[in-house]
Amino acid sequence: MAAATTPGKIILFGEHAVVYGQPALAAPVSQVQARVDVTDASRSGVWIDAPDVNLSSELSRLAPDHPLAAAIKGVFSALNISRYPNLHIQIESTIPVASGLGSGAAVSVALIRALSLAVHRPLPDEQVSALAYDVEKIHHGTPSGIDNTVITYAKPVYFVKDLPAPQGRGGEGKTIETFRVAKPFTIVIGDTGLPAPTKEAVADVRKLRQANPERYERLFAAIGSIARAARQAIETGHPERLGPLMDENHALLQEMTVSCPELDRLTEAARSSGALGAKLSGGGRGGNMIALSEKENALAVANALSNAGAKRTIITTVH
Ligand code: PMV
Repeated sequence: MAAATTPGKIILFGEHAVVYGQPALAAPVSQVQARVDVTDASRSGVWIDAPDVNLSSELSRLAPDHPLAAAIKGVFSALNISRYPNLHIQIESTIPVASGLGSGAAVSVALIRALSLAVHRPLPDEQVSALAYDVEKIHHGTPSGIDNTVITYAKPVYFVKDLPAPQGRGGEGKTIETFRVAKPFTIVIGDTGLPAPTKEAVADVRKLRQANPERYERLFAAIGSIARAARQAIETGHPERLGPLMDENHALLQEMTVSCPELDRLTEAARSSGALGAKLSGGGRGGNMIALSEKENALAVANALSNAGAKRTIITTVH
């Protein structure tokens, strides 16, 4: 009846600082995917099967703040559908959960798209992304919105979360720009195998910033400059310049306390095996790291990461 497939994602530059209004760059990772199939159900109700997370349930039996329930209800509400059709929703994903590869946002985006297609009211990308953002908020507290954005558009994005206007007058918006990758480049992703506690890491950074605003604003601004320089390097065909920028960005994230020994070990192993630079990617304290590599050396970098303890590696091209 209707299906949608979405990629995973990596944050190339700017995680954490993006929550405070600095730019970040993210890219889709098509080697891992979420897929949602929506078909007519022979019995009444909206039936959801998500074998990867051992879930098989009718919609009304899920807690209202369950991300899948929130996504489904969000679509029906956006489309003013109050009598739900009988449907079967099958969710499959090869994106590892809680690893910073965007599994939650990828499932939400695929689900929102497939469901709106199934009822013959396909939603535009902007609305798909906005609905997925609402789901992200339930579990991530104060997400910047970068995950749902890069996954919805499935292209590298430059993202700035505009901060709320002063005096609480609303006006929170976002700058989302897709940009030209003048010369494709190879990224090796290494998974520590440790769950990335993004929500806690974001909350800790918030507390640290409250305790030391000047220091943290300085760190965020430095990361913002790196993200802008990285965009320029990518657009002007100089991806090799991303290596040192990754190393610098990682050092700033270490200073912000969001790295961990496992991420540091993997970034070191990548550099020692010839990667041009490496950094953690996402919330940190677990999850994934990324390394920039010459195409010919990517396998050697991936092997070095496995030898240093990576539970899985992915070689991807940003183009
Ligand atoms: O752990 P991930 O990949 O979902 O990334 C979190 C990125 C942060 O900047 C730390 C938070 C956010 O909402 O942007």
